[in-house]
Amino acid sequence: MEVLGIDIGFGFTKATDGEETLIFKSLFGDATDLQFWVDFGENSLSNYFNVTIDGKSYFIGDLAEQQSNVISFTLDQEKLISEFVKVLTLTVAGVFLKEDSAINVPINIVSGLPIGYFKHNHKRFNEILTGHHKISYIQPDGSKIVKEIYINKVRMLPQPLGTILNLLMDDRGKIVNKELAKQKVGVVDIGFRTTDFTIMDRLRYIDRSSRTMDTGISKAFSVISNKLREKCGVSVELYRLYKAAELGTIKMKGHGLNFSKIRDQVYAQLAGTIANDIDRVWAGDWDIDTIILTGGGCMELAKYLQPLISGSVIPTDLTVDARLNNVQGYLKYGRYIWGESGQEPPQPQPPKEVDQIEDRLEEPLEEPLEESISEALEAIDEPIEDIDDFVEDEFD
Ligand SMILES: Nc1ncnc2c1ncn2[C@@H]1O[C@H](COP(=O)(O)OP(=O)(O)OP(=O)(O)O)[C@@H](O)[C@H]1O
Ligand SMILES: [Mg+2]
Repeated sequence: MEVLGIDIGFGFTKATDGEETLIFKSLFGDATDLQFWVDFGENSLSNYFNVTIDGKSYFIGDLAEQQSNVISFTLDQEKLISEFVKVLTLTVAGVFLKEDSAINVPINIVSGLPIGYFKHNHKRFNEILTGHHKISYIQPDGSKIVKEIYINKVRMLPQPLGTILNLLMDDRGKIVNKELAKQKVGVVDIGFRTTDFTIMDRLRYIDRSSRTMDTGISKAFSVISNKLREKCGVSVELYRLYKAAELGTIKMKGHGLNFSKIRDQVYAQLAGTIANDIDRVWAGDWDIDTIILTGGGCMELAKYLQPLISGSVIPTDLTVDARLNNVQGYLKYGRYIWGESGQEPPQPQPPKEVDQIEDRLEEPLEEPLEESISEALEAIDEPIEDIDDFVEDEFD
């Protein structure tokens, strides 16, 4: 039995089995008949995803971006679930399925959804993913590897909880950070399309203070892309802006363009909007002990956002890839509920004093967290808040 954490984000697909981690852009495209393949890059093979699922062939991630004629990318949650989740999940699940293991080794998956989409969509992941699947991978040399995947169980979490669970638990899924477990913790997860806010108060998920907003980094990328179009007449797809936005420069038709000033302004504005949302969504939560910034977008926005937040913010560690915080927590949660091997755990003895959180922490398989999460998740029914008026014509 394998346990995998898989995070299908609007920007990036992230997956881990605890030993290896995969991360690539959430893109797929038609599999073209490549006449010739040469790649002198270092990680070529791990990024070469040419797959066939249900009789359809796809290039995935970087390969799609470079070689497909028609590339699918979306910022629409419905589309992400109905068109992307199966293809991207099976692609990574098949990679993690050990080649020498017997056919049909069952896989248990923990994945996540933005809070605002959780209630209406979490069961769909089960419907789409559980059961038997077949996927073939065409290697660069033309050889084919066929994998039979059996997905036994899929558990869903609201995405930002992954980050808290990652901090709370060790690699075996045991709750070890007792200090954090006693606290009221707020998480701001800045992704590519969404920013999620959530609070966990002494291991209890607080629905009232959890929300999804449309203030991911793509909001800033849209402004930059519009500016570039006005200046150069080229429409740059948002998924082609990551590297350029990091550098603040882009080369178009032989001309280098520096847009770092606009980028900094837009990031500062986006950070301001997120800080206002924090004040509004957590107006009653003035007793938060710790605020954690997570998601890849926090790496760009931390320097603007941190000074705007009143409260104790854990400083963003720029040496760690914050895009992976949630998926690492998903895997730990999988080990917490299923054990390291993915087997159902034996029933633990109930602790003597249930109110003593210390006792509960010694019992990794006892389920206060589990209960709290599932109860609260039933209650989640927040609409997504849009901020279409976010982008003012600041840069004219
Ligand atoms: N090395 C990197 N390459 C690309 N983007 C990076 C990198 N490091 C940080 N980022 C930032 O990470 C962001 C994507 O973060 P993340 O992967 O958490 O989003 P996502 O989960 O795909 O989106 P969402 O949560 O909205 O579905 C990018 O917009 C970019 O700003
Ligand atoms: Mg995300």
